[in-house]
Amino acid sequence: MEGLPPGLLAARREAVLEALGRGVMVLAAAPILRRSRDTEHSYRPDSDLFYLTGATEPHTVAVLAGGDEPRFVLFAQERDPAAELWTGERVGPEAAAERFGADETYPLAELEARLPVLLRESDRVYYRLGRVGDLEGMVLEALAYARSRGQRKGIGPRALMDPGAILDEMRLLKDEVELRRLRSAAEATVAGHRAALDTIRPGVGEWAVQASVEAAFLREGATAPGFGTIVGSGSNACFLHYVDNRKMVAEGDLVLVDAGAEVALYNGDVTRTVPASGRFGDLQRAVYDVVERARTAAVAAGRPGGSIGGVHDAAVAVLVEGLVALGVLTGSVEDLVEQEAYKPFYPHQTSHWIGLDVHDPGDYAREGTSRTLEPGMVFTVEPGLYFRPGVDGPAARFEGIGVRIEDDVVVTEAGCENLTAALPTAPEEIEALVAEGAGRSRGRG
Ligand code: GLY
Ligand code: MN
Ligand code: MN
Repeated sequence: MEGLPPGLLAARREAVLEALGRGVMVLAAAPILRRSRDTEHSYRPDSDLFYLTGATEPHTVAVLAGGDEPRFVLFAQERDPAAELWTGERVGPEAAAERFGADETYPLAELEARLPVLLRESDRVYYRLGRVGDLEGMVLEALAYARSRGQRKGIGPRALMDPGAILDEMRLLKDEVELRRLRSAAEATVAGHRAALDTIRPGVGEWAVQASVEAAFLREGATAPGFGTIVGSGSNACFLHYVDNRKMVAEGDLVLVDAGAEVALYNGDVTRTVPASGRFGDLQRAVYDVVERARTAAVAAGRPGGSIGGVHDAAVAVLVEGLVALGVLTGSVEDLVEQEAYKPFYPHQTSHWIGLDVHDPGDYAREGTSRTLEPGMVFTVEPGLYFRPGVDGPAARFEGIGVRIEDDVVVTEAGCENLTAALPTAPEEIEALVAEGAGRSRGRG
């Protein structure tokens, strides 16, 4: 993977060291997770560690030590020809100093002895507790040692903080390098969805649609899907994170595809809902039109000075108006919004931040007030309506219909740019693309 510019990483670390004061931040590589017996899940580097160092190998620990002598200390796994024969080359502690711009580098085996000393002079430690298979025991021991030793001199850590207290806010505002990666992720994601539109027809397996989406992601430079690809046909579309993908698509089904490519560790996250036959039924189309209007209104609300809550409110207002027009809800739109009467049909939020993580960090509210949007914030817009099996009352005639439409947008100086706009949402265009794909597959025989 193309590395991040060293100057950019150094500037980020500088900002963190400044914010640390006398604190010390310890960032560990993501653990290797076992999938079964002696096979492993494919490795996904830790987002915070990558953001500050560019390091992507497991068994790496970065320590940013504030105080009188601020420095960046890196612990790396040692070279091991026998292991490298199986899993590929390691950077090793010797080369790591230059590669990552560290002031000091050591073999990981020295972490246990060096960490207590690094923590001793700090007044607080930033370390994320509760991760599986991590160094937690070692860090807590080092912390206990540093706390007891420090008291002799009136120093030593008195607080344990989450690194997100500093990093989440930095990661919320994307710089140009990040935006380039997000654009690449958006392009690969759109390519995956085009492959889905080409594949969907009655009689195809949800799994086959998943396969075509993920193959296109990889062809377009993704390392992996950023999350489990969702292909929900018929009433499976009503389950928000349905990932079984084992049903055959039937004539008359809507198919909801929610999938995103991860490119250079940045993510896309897009949903389209399309008619398997290439033609929306009347009730399906009525629901689709409401969700599409909500998406348009929500994107329009994503501008500097607006708020992330305002984006949600814009979507909810249109969805509720639509639910009234469809005869599902009765009453004034204002009252129905106030009473959250839409919740059975729209149980989730409209947006989440997106970046290195699909659900990227960053506060959505401050002191009870929704976050004001600023240029460089990137988030999803994903309204939906779901009429789950068993729904009763006036909604019953829509039973089994689930529609979500999701794009990824970036706030700009002028407003908001839809990064995934190249993938159509207009129902006629969606219908045409599905019909064309089905025609081609008939032509192939
Ligand atoms: N695909 C997960 C989400 O839309 O948040
Ligand atoms: Mn999604
Ligand atoms: Mn999403």
